[in-house]
Amino acid sequence: MRDLTKCLRLVDEDRALTSPGAKVHYYPLAIKSGRGSTIEDLDGNLYIDMLSSAGAVNTGHCHPKVVEAIKKQADSLILYTHVYMYHEPLVSLTKELISITPGDFRKRVFFGLSGSDANDGAIKLARVSTGRPRVVSFIRSYHGSTYGAISLSAVSLPMSRKIGPLLPGIHHMPFPDPYRAPIPGMSPDEVSDYCIDQIKIAFENFMPPDEVSAFIIEPIQGDSGLIVPPAKFLRDLRALCDANGILLISEEVQQGFGRTGRWFGIENFGVVPDAVILGKSIASGLPLSGVVARAELIEKLEAPVHLFTAGGNPVCCAAALATIDVLRGEDILTHVTDLGERAKKRFLDMREKFEFIGDVRGIGLSIGVDLVTDRQTKERNRAAAAKITYRAWEKGLLLSFFSGSVLRIQPPLVITDDEMNRAIDIIEESMEEFDKGEIPDSVLDSVQGW
Ligand SMILES: Cc1ncc(COP(=O)(O)O)c(C=O)c1O
Repeated sequence: MRDLTKCLRLVDEDRALTSPGAKVHYYPLAIKSGRGSTIEDLDGNLYIDMLSSAGAVNTGHCHPKVVEAIKKQADSLILYTHVYMYHEPLVSLTKELISITPGDFRKRVFFGLSGSDANDGAIKLARVSTGRPRVVSFIRSYHGSTYGAISLSAVSLPMSRKIGPLLPGIHHMPFPDPYRAPIPGMSPDEVSDYCIDQIKIAFENFMPPDEVSAFIIEPIQGDSGLIVPPAKFLRDLRALCDANGILLISEEVQQGFGRTGRWFGIENFGVVPDAVILGKSIASGLPLSGVVARAELIEKLEAPVHLFTAGGNPVCCAAALATIDVLRGEDILTHVTDLGERAKKRFLDMREKFEFIGDVRGIGLSIGVDLVTDRQTKERNRAAAAKITYRAWEKGLLLSFFSGSVLRIQPPLVITDDEMNRAIDIIEESMEEFDKGEIPDSVLDSVQGW
């Protein structure tokens, strides 16, 4: 039996003092430290991390190069707001972001502190630069927790219940989900065509295309359970945008910075967006976000339309520069592609064994394992997701699930083959124990899940 005395004490204190509106509870893991893909709790127990702090530490915990860059910068300047003055780390980072983001055109960048505020900035950018009021996002997308980002999101009722009214002028269109197709039996291309048709119907009936400024889309829908759209959809959406003078903005907060084996998720689909929204892993865990867009769009913004005192601060910029250096220097992207393929194969093999695995999907190290009560109806198996997640934690794995049924496999990108194999072994063992009915129902009282 593991000792969890200190963890349990801290969890009780936290839960008594902080907002329940800011916590999605899985199990009482109070973290003391992290290194690479390993987490240590307050009682000295070790875990392999399959969550990367919600996809925010792609370079792994406390990567030595990132830590060194932070320390060095903190030693000389922590903050002088770039709203009024200028500093070198921000300009160097801006140049790097311009060079790694898709699009062979002139670009500019603005910065913030969270994925949410970057989404707000993208809404402002779209409206100001096109002079059009409407913005379109997708059903079951997640964009964050500010009013603008919640207005774009459409994945969880408690997110918007009682806090309204939300931002006007936002429309939500269906996102193509090849697994849970709108009409059962549709091929991925048919799903894609169906969703494009819904946009055309909206254009003809209630969403005048000449009033639409932008589509904001996650290249892989993250929190809805890692839904990978057919490439055709993104290509057809790009064409629809071009035909109507609408911007296409790729929301890369979760799928960016190497997560899919490319710098940015949208690159897997052969489509070039007009802007990308960045957050989470950009600075390996320090609060930084940004939008990189065609220069002529950003040039329409007038101060002080979108700025933050500590946005793009020197320490976060130094961490981001080190992050890019690590991802580039250690050839992480190739590693992500290779390891992601092997990991996916192992889950697909498990699907042969366990009837409750409905679907395995994803690109690179952004893999979702969707658990169902019945492969025919595809009903979500929340109990399986909760029990397997909990049992895996008992065995030394930091695992989570979203959308009620989808195991979230998003380890730090620096995870080794051995660590990944061990992590998948633990998931397999937990699935076996679930299959045999060895995980008690009492677990379900504890796990809230996303
Ligand atoms: C796709 C996506 N966009 C935006 C956000 C919001 O980012 P933040 O929590 O840093 O505001 C998240 C966070 O989970 C996300 O997954």
